Amino acid sequence: MSQHVSIDRTRSAERIGRDIETLAGPAYTSSERAICRYAYTDVYRNTLDYFRERLGELGFRVYEDPVGNLVARNRPPGEPVFGLGSHCDSNRNGGKYDGTMGVVTALEVCRLDAELGLGLPLQLISFLEEEGSGFGQMLLGSRIVAGRVTERALRQDVRAIDDGRSFWEHAEEAGYQPSRWPECAAILDDLTGWLELHIEQGRVLQDAGHRVGVVSAIAGYVHADVEVRGRADHAGATPMDLRLDAGTVAAASLLELQRLARRANEKVPTVGTVGEVSLDPGLINVVPGGARFSLDIRGVDDRVVGEVFHQLSGFAHERAGREGMTATVTERQTVPVTPMDARIISALEGAAGRAGEPYTVLHSGAAHDTMSVAGRVPAGMVFVACRDGVSHSPEEEARPEDAAVGAEVMLNAIAATTES
Ligand code: GLV
Ligand code: MN
Ligand code: MN
Repeated sequence: MSQHVSIDRTRSAERIGRDIETLAGPAYTSSERAICRYAYTDVYRNTLDYFRERLGELGFRVYEDPVGNLVARNRPPGEPVFGLGSHCDSNRNGGKYDGTMGVVTALEVCRLDAELGLGLPLQLISFLEEEGSGFGQMLLGSRIVAGRVTERALRQDVRAIDDGRSFWEHAEEAGYQPSRWPECAAILDDLTGWLELHIEQGRVLQDAGHRVGVVSAIAGYVHADVEVRGRADHAGATPMDLRLDAGTVAAASLLELQRLARRANEKVPTVGTVGEVSLDPGLINVVPGGARFSLDIRGVDDRVVGEVFHQLSGFAHERAGREGMTATVTERQTVPVTPMDARIISALEGAAGRAGEPYTVLHSGAAHDTMSVAGRVPAGMVFVACRDGVSHSPEEEARPEDAAVGAEVMLNAIAATTES
């Protein structure tokens, strides 16, 4: 059993806090009211450069894979290393901490390793486009690494929210080589384990009065789009009985998803959200001839998530058909529930215990790049508390002091895992 390494938590918290505040500055977000940065934008480039410089100063070799996942390692290629990191893109309505705190804390672990002369073999990764803010596809960078995409999707189906051009085109324009995307898998080749720190985005830790949590599993999800076709018509002159109003199918489906998710949740944690709705043509005096809405269904039981999706799809079809309209459901992506590795969980629990830090073992309702890594590498996650569980909002708050505890736990868990 390794000796527990104690760190100067105050100093680590200061450094983590400074990095977080710097990356919330105007050079790193394209919005004045939220953190907003996503793949291939200038503010995202600046953020990668920030990490490049800090890691370069530590003597890490830093590079980007063919689509722009950032990798930094303190051992030559081919040698085993322990992986750690997260993502530094943000939700379009993001806060300072989602993802960024994980990369910043991973950087702090690298600093501590160097400062304390531990000599741990480390590789930091900051995954591209976790939030889907640029291209509407969550975990995109890590799913490319995991081979959970198709070339066709990257060339044509995955399109930028802002201008509708393909991921491929944007990646090339930013100087990357998307045609080499299968080579991105290599960034996991040397990993003996993987750890991601993230804010909890729930309130379990706050309610328990714990600063850190150890994740047992990450909820699976289905993301899909429903397109309803009715008929556009005059909003004043068309009697209520003669309308093919696609908006009514969207509205009824939204409420039905609420009902289905609540019912499923009585058995096992399940949630369902319609987060995007658009009506076509979207004018005050036109009965909507088209409607599009998204489905985000998540839970800790894949069968239940699948059932809710199936039932909601059936409802939309039935409701549209009954009224002379059509509904088409298209899956964007489905990711199964991802359990964390038992040995990594136990290393984290051991490290937290030896640090004298009470912790909660909990599942993650939010998705994380770790879901893509876990298929190839024994993986785990550390959560830190966030105020009232608020996230995907500029109101998001978390404490650098808690992340410093997370850094100590990670450092010791990596040391224990690397040693044994
Ligand atoms: C990731 O940001 C998610 O929505 O789970
Ligand atoms: Mn995140
Ligand atoms: Mn997020």
